[in-house]
Amino acid sequence: MGRIIMKWGGGLISDKSSVCTPNQQHIRNLAQCVIHLEKLGHDIIIVHGAGSFGHIRARQYRLDEGNIEGIEQSEGVAHVRADMLHLHDLVVESLQPLNVISHKPREFVHNNGPDFQANLEPFLDSGVHVTFGDVVDCDPPSEFGILSGDDLMLRLSCELPDVTHSIFAMGGTPGLMTSSDETGKLIPIWNKDMEYSGNHRQEIDVTGGIFLKAHRAAHICEVVEHVWFVDGEHASRILEIVEFGESVGTRIVPSQ
Ligand code: IPE
Repeated sequence: MGRIIMKWGGGLISDKSSVCTPNQQHIRNLAQCVIHLEKLGHDIIIVHGAGSFGHIRARQYRLDEGNIEGIEQSEGVAHVRADMLHLHDLVVESLQPLNVISHKPREFVHNNGPDFQANLEPFLDSGVHVTFGDVVDCDPPSEFGILSGDDLMLRLSCELPDVTHSIFAMGGTPGLMTSSDETGKLIPIWNKDMEYSGNHRQEIDVTGGIFLKAHRAAHICEVVEHVWFVDGEHASRILEIVEFGESVGTRIVPSQ
């Protein structure tokens, strides 16, 4: 049936403004969608984001800047890793009774950004795979850094065989928009030569927000046929994309 790789955005599965607050309803709905797709025979990989389980404390300890001389950050690294594990456990639990294989980036990834080093072969084993944005070890002088789930989406989508869909489920937006205010309209089909509007709350978000996602998706669509941004609050839209090839959302296509 092919492989579906989906991102559960951190802003979708948590309340982004309140530390370590999961959105259990959204997690449950997304899990039901995965359980349905698994029954249909698809291979599935879930990459989940961090939301308020990662960004707030990572910003506080400046983990996105790597090791900073004179600042005690090891406590922050341990704290964010523990919080991410907590969120990860909630995601894994939601997928019961599926056979879930968990991949913690701190255990198999070295360095961050799109060129991180990792063996991705274990994602081919049978079962539903779950991984996530994390704090990973890096070469000196950084020593550590934040690996975004969007970079995992890029590498898994482009390097694993038989990937048919790469779907970014986001919170609070139906897809890419023409404008960030209430006059904004959904862009149904987008390529990287087109404009769009996005807000990146640098003071909260330690990874790249919508801009990183759009950039990574533009690469993925060179390799994967169905690349989409959807509002994950309507998990049924993910099913529509897989079953009918379309839904409300933004389809990302190669530029002409
Ligand atoms: C961020 O991962 C990881 C940490 C802050 C530890 P993502 O970039 O994938 O997270 P979201 O989706 O923006 O929350």
